[in-house]
This record gives sequence, C-alpha cells and structure tokens, in this order.
Amino acid sequence: MRLGILGSGSGSNMQAILDGVADGSIPATIALVLSDNPQGYILERAKKAGIPTGVIDCRGFKSKCPEEAQEETAAALKAAGVDLVCLAGFMRLVRAPLLEAFPDRIINIHPALLPAFPGLQAWKQALEAGVAETGCTVHYVDGGVDTGPSILQGRVPVLVGDTPESLHERILAEEHRIYPEAIRMVAKSLKL
Ligand code: GRF
Repeated sequence: MRLGILGSGSGSNMQAILDGVADGSIPATIALVLSDNPQGYILERAKKAGIPTGVIDCRGFKSKCPEEAQEETAAALKAAGVDLVCLAGFMRLVRAPLLEAFPDRIINIHPALLPAFPGLQAWKQALEAGVAETGCTVHYVDGGVDTGPSILQGRVPVLVGDTPESLHERILAEEHRIYPEAIRMVAKSLKL
C-alpha cells in the first residue's frame, strides 16, 4: 500500500507513520509528502528520510485550499501511485476534486473523541468543557469538518492541573500510537 501524507506543521504524526514503515509494523511505503506550508518541519522530516515532497500552492489563501490547488494535489498523489491519503496535521478542508479522486481513501487524525469537540484546538475545548477523559480519533474524511466514519479512537485522562499544553502533549503521544494502528487496519480491510 502506497501512502500520501498531507500536513501543515511539525509532522510528528508523519514521523510516527514513517517509523512504523521503517520497522515494518506498517505494511506500506510513503510515496509522497505534501504541505501547504513551505516552512513546515514535516517537509524536513520527509526529506531526511529520502521521501519525495511537494508544496501545495493555496494561492495566498489563509485557510482554504482552492479548487485548482486541490486538483494539483490530487494529480500529484495519483502520479505517485498513492492508494491511501493520510492527513496528519493538515489544517485545510479537503473537498472535491481530492475527495472525488480518492473516494473513501482519505483518512485524518483529530485530537478529540469525535463527534465531541470537532474543529480547532480540540484539546482546549475538552479542558474548558471539564471532561474527565478525552483522546483522539482516526476517521475517514467526507468533506465535512472532522466528520466521517471513525476507524479507531484512543482515550487519555484529563488530569487535575492539566494545562492546554500538558493535555495536548498527552493526546499527541496517543495519536502517534493509534495512527499506525489505524493504517494497519485500513490496509487489512482494503487488502492492500
Ligand atoms: C496537532 O495539533 C495534532 O494534535 C493534530 O495535528 C497537529 C499537528 O500535528 N493531529 P503534527 O505534529 O504535525 O502531526
């Protein structure tokens, strides 16, 4: 199974997937890593591992990825023979034509137990809501905001004295555990 990874930031989830591919625990290869952020450390991590990278040109938009950029991204992923697209800290909404190019083949990781706390800084939302437990979710992307069928969830406790940073750090560690597991599950279900 060939993976295409999209991210906007530090790429720690991409690194967890990369480590799983390297140690053989994820039956896949990473064919391409793309970022809408030319300075995203995710690109550095990929380059260090000798993985092809590219930048998604969102035409100066701050938060959306316009149609032509979605088309270019879909074409680059197809040209790389990608079977499964993994969003890993990708901060833009995926829409058609990407969704049409990879129907039921785009997954995302969100730092909350969806459907609770969709959207930005979900760990802060959980802390402010006063829940005793939160976590992270790998789900199929269906074009909504953090909607789509769930594949796997990981739960973490919210501890007394937690700050947004300490809670996010605990969630992130759990993300790095469940994302590789979720990819293994998808590979098995797709027989790829
Ligand atoms: C983090 O906030 C993580 O919780 C979410 O995406 C952001 C970036 O993570 N999934 P990464 O280090 O770029 O994978």
